[in-house]
Amino acid sequence: MRLLLMGPPGAGKGTQAESLVGKYSIPHISTGDIFRTNLREGTPLGLRAKEYMDKGQLVPDNLVVSIVVDRLESLEGDSGFLLDGFPRTLPQAEALDRRLQDLGWGLDAVVNIEVPHQTIIERLTGRRVCRQCSSTYHLKYNPSQVRGICDTCGGGLYQREDDSLETVQERLEVYNRQTQPLIEYYRERGLLLSVDGSQEIPAVLNAIIVSLEK
Ligand code: AP5
Ligand code: MG
Ligand code: ZN
Repeated sequence: MRLLLMGPPGAGKGTQAESLVGKYSIPHISTGDIFRTNLREGTPLGLRAKEYMDKGQLVPDNLVVSIVVDRLESLEGDSGFLLDGFPRTLPQAEALDRRLQDLGWGLDAVVNIEVPHQTIIERLTGRRVCRQCSSTYHLKYNPSQVRGICDTCGGGLYQREDDSLETVQERLEVYNRQTQPLIEYYRERGLLLSVDGSQEIPAVLNAIIVSLEK
């Protein structure tokens, strides 16, 4: 299965990806997670990306594309993948198409998780993320069993720096301007599956699986 997960910040891409990659036994490639891991390790890439992420802006296309291409090329055989948060601009989508064509791999579907803006603010300001394994929680909608501790690995939970109200608003504007046009791009190619992301987490997962298996 070769999938893209799209949707505005806080739509639930990472949350749904955690279940989907288990169900379909495919690797989860999240560009946001890759940047945050690099930042934690203090790599030049992480420090470079931080300049943009902290402002809620997109990291330049050339940086992102080369990371994703490297990841795709390192996959063993044609085992499939789930890309979360990539592509986010037209040039990224075109670069991905070219690379997949070279590899002879077509996409199976682009899942677009739709959520109204109001919901997004509440989701992002209540989000907590595991420092070690990037598992995602929400204080109200998906709390960990022990407050502040990851259920999966016991790591500490933290609040992302770009989840402040001000930065969330900038991220939403960037999404509308630069990423939303890709919905049409994939619709034209017959790949788009839209699901209602305002339902509870298990209901969204179910809607994704039903639409994939249709
Ligand atoms: P990235 O990390 O990808 O952030 P994002 O796209 O803004 O999306 P989020 O991770 O914030 O949201 P999500 O959809 O994964 O939601 P989640 O499941 O966590 O990117 C960060 C930055 O990196 C970008 O701003 C940019 O600077 C850079 N970057 C990354 N990729 C790039 C690219 N391709 N090009 C250029 N720059 C790039 O859920 C959110 C919260 O809601 C959680 O608390 C969760 O528990 C809760 N929740 C989820 N689903 C539900 C539900 N159904 N009901 C109730 N609560 C829910
Ligand atoms: Mg995410
Ligand atoms: Zn963890």
